[in-house]
Amino acid sequence: MTTIVVVGGTGYTGGHIVREAASRGHQVIAVSRSLPSEEVPGVRYETGAAEDVVPRVVPEADVVVAAVSPRGDMSGRLVGLYRTLAALSRDAGARYVQVGGFSSLRPAEGAPRFVEGELPEQFRDEALEGEATRAMLVEEAPEGLDWLFVSPAGSYGAWAAGERTGSYRLGGEVALFDPAGESSISGADFALAVLDEIDRPRHHREHVGVAY
Ligand SMILES: NC(=O)c1ccc[n+]([C@@H]2O[C@H](COP(=O)([O-])OP(=O)(O)OC[C@H]3O[C@@H](n4cnc5c(N)ncnc54)[C@H](OP(=O)(O)O)[C@@H]3O)[C@@H](O)[C@H]2O)c1
Repeated sequence: MTTIVVVGGTGYTGGHIVREAASRGHQVIAVSRSLPSEEVPGVRYETGAAEDVVPRVVPEADVVVAAVSPRGDMSGRLVGLYRTLAALSRDAGARYVQVGGFSSLRPAEGAPRFVEGELPEQFRDEALEGEATRAMLVEEAPEGLDWLFVSPAGSYGAWAAGERTGSYRLGGEVALFDPAGESSISGADFALAVLDEIDRPRHHREHVGVAY
């Protein structure tokens, strides 16, 4: 059994990861400011602002998952929070999995990341902040931290929840598309990929992308 702290564990991404982790028998600690409408049985919910809660719970973790979104009052605050989480994870000897955005991927090997080009207005701020969290991790990750940065597909999120299919593809920094040119992944399948990587770590200090 692995103890997994999911920061943002009641959100879209975090909620799916919490459910998948609990269903595999792991000990799960979900951190958020408010409780979910439906608690997942067996999960320990720790409520409060992440920066107040994580110094207390991360020392218990084998794995820390960062799944807060840079929206609302968290806009502009994710890099600082994730820098703290990365340092606490290193101190705890925990693997650190940070969820970012599709726009940090590249359309082709060596090509600029999507975030370096034109972005739809409604995604721009979130994409730029997600990219800043990636850059922070790659450039400043504490020595010895076993980190993973995971980008979901383009069509991903509460607005495109999708179904659990039980399969996914894991790529590197180059975005994966299906034969119809679509990049999508459901929340449940994304969580499957994250938990498979937690249970059988294959990528270390790497940026990976998950798509169907
Ligand atoms: N296609 C894409 O590229 C794509 C699409 C969607 C999401 N994403 C990325 O995936 C990540 C997660 O996004 P999401 O949509 O799954 O998030 P979300 O649904 O908005 O969930 C955010 C979670 O963080 C918690 N939270 C927020 N501020 C907090 C704080 N100060 N302290 C403690 N907990 C806090 C929220 O609960 P409380 O509000 O109760 O605290 C909630 O559990 C983000 O990095 C986002 O950019 C990428």
